[in-house]
Amino acid sequence: MKILAPDVPFDLDFPSLLPDGGASFAPGGTDTVATYAMGEPVPEEHTDAEVLITWSNPPKVLADAARRLTRLRWIQTLSAGPDLVLRAGFAPDVVIASGQSLHDDTVTEHTLALILASVRRIDASLAAQREHRWAKEIAFAQADPVTDREYTLDGARVTIWGFGSIALRLAPLLTALGAEVTGVASRAGERSGYPVVGPDGLDALLAETDLLVSLLPAIPATQHILDARLLSLLPPTARFVNVGRGATVDEAALVDALRSGRLAGAALDVMETEPLPEASPLWDVPNLILTPHVAGGRPRRAARFVADQLTAWRQGGDLRNVVAR
Ligand SMILES: NC(=O)c1ccc[n+]([C@@H]2O[C@H](COP(=O)([O-])OP(=O)(O)OC[C@H]3O[C@@H](n4cnc5c(N)ncnc54)[C@H](OP(=O)(O)O)[C@@H]3O)[C@@H](O)[C@H]2O)c1
Repeated sequence: MKILAPDVPFDLDFPSLLPDGGASFAPGGTDTVATYAMGEPVPEEHTDAEVLITWSNPPKVLADAARRLTRLRWIQTLSAGPDLVLRAGFAPDVVIASGQSLHDDTVTEHTLALILASVRRIDASLAAQREHRWAKEIAFAQADPVTDREYTLDGARVTIWGFGSIALRLAPLLTALGAEVTGVASRAGERSGYPVVGPDGLDALLAETDLLVSLLPAIPATQHILDARLLSLLPPTARFVNVGRGATVDEAALVDALRSGRLAGAALDVMETEPLPEASPLWDVPNLILTPHVAGGRPRRAARFVADQLTAWRQGGDLRNVVAR
């Protein structure tokens, strides 16, 4: 079996972690692992691969692989969101497994950083710092008893839309800061002690949300799902943080809501078009923090994960994170 592994800047030495210590990959063994450049078409001599590991491969490289790797049986992406691989056009019998869980720690930390930066107005302090200005108005605003909920998570009603792997890591940290966390997922029901509503419970929940955090995947059902109507249901003191995927947000509606003051603030790590075009209105919207899709950074413990997946695959066991197609 030939496995194609990307040229990643982190340790992906999975053969040495296999139960046989990688013997099947040694010279003369039954398996081979070949490293390929993620940004380039797969070289002709490797188009016979049966397993393709991907990470940040550009869409056109994935589409090219879908056309040329005719013996492929399994794609293991190291991204938590499999949207790019799903859209590349791989044959329906090719198993696609995601990197769900590999980014939970870093995305949680980044989400928390964006939430706190927005709630504590770090963006306003940084802007004032650039002007060498002591922005006392931030402290005065914090002291306002009517709006104090805007400036603290203690008692804030936080809705996490997309209550999956990352949300389960994030929610207890928000709880520790005093927030009341409710999830929204495809299916309603309690998860790890948190109430979770289904899509039909969203409208009522938004009206009572101080902070909306989106960790939604990009799938057809979530395309521009946060639109003008849903934004209008949020209280004007609410904030929105998106660390899921940019395609889930109607960005024009978000810009309108922020410019008109119908939404107090927002922070986005993901945008519909990335890199964000220079002419995008998002760059200059008030009370909006942008980070350049850096929440995940790189998968953690990826070699161990791939070794376990490969062991399961060889033994005919269940692969983790198989994506329904
Ligand atoms: N910014 C970054 O660098 C970065 C890094 C990693 C991941 N991400 C993004 O974060 C997303 C979440 O990652 P994860 O590992 O937590 O994924 P996950 O475990 O698959 O969780 C996704 C959640 O979304 C829910 N969901 C799906 N469609 C929905 C809909 N139409 N309405 C309501 N809920 C819906 C799912 O509900 P059920 O549980 O009921 O199925 C699930 O709870 C990824 O898909 C990726 O796009 C971003």
